[in-house]
Amino acid sequence: MLMRPFQMSDYPAVLALWQQSGPGITLRPSDEPAEVARKLERDPDLFLVAEEDTIVIGVIMGAWDGRRGWIHHLAVQPSWRNRGVGSALLSEVEKRLKAKGCLKVNLMVLKDNIDAQRLYARLGYQAMASTLLMGKEL
Ligand SMILES: CC(C)(COP(=O)(O)OP(=O)(O)OC[C@H]1O[C@@H](n2cnc3c(N)ncnc32)[C@H](O)[C@@H]1OP(=O)(O)O)[C@@H](O)C(=O)NCCC(=O)NCCS
Repeated sequence: MLMRPFQMSDYPAVLALWQQSGPGITLRPSDEPAEVARKLERDPDLFLVAEEDTIVIGVIMGAWDGRRGWIHHLAVQPSWRNRGVGSALLSEVEKRLKAKGCLKVNLMVLKDNIDAQRLYARLGYQAMASTLLMGKEL
């Protein structure tokens, strides 16, 4: 398996991967090509795909806002799950965030996404039970 930065030419394969990922990935206007291209202008080294024989089998969109690291849209092709691809992508982004000086990384996961929560817990993530996530459409 090769891990490399996402390129816009990966977009169709990555979109298909996100679309078949079930309720764990919610696609929003921010996932349209123009928005993804804009995201790629920031942190291109944190937006990675995993590839096997030139086929995209996994993706992770990392972000660094100067204070916190963020993880978005981690997904692995169903036939490639439970082989360490998701963990490898997350560990690689953590390593890159740490190298930038990031002290803490956050992520959002649905309460009923038990597979993903197990992975995150195994890699050291803890639920922030006293924190309520709030958001606003601009
Ligand atoms: C969550 C997700 C990304 C995990 O990807 P993955 O590649 O299966 O993750 P890993 O293989 O690294 O870890 C999954 C399990 O396989 C196990 N595993 C890893 N390598 C293994 C191997 N070589 N042999 C057997 N088991 C292995 C891990 O220990 C882990 O077990 P655990 O769940 O008990 O901790 C994947 O299930 C997915 O794409 N889900 C849909 C999208 C989604 O919900 N994303 C999260 C959004 S918050």
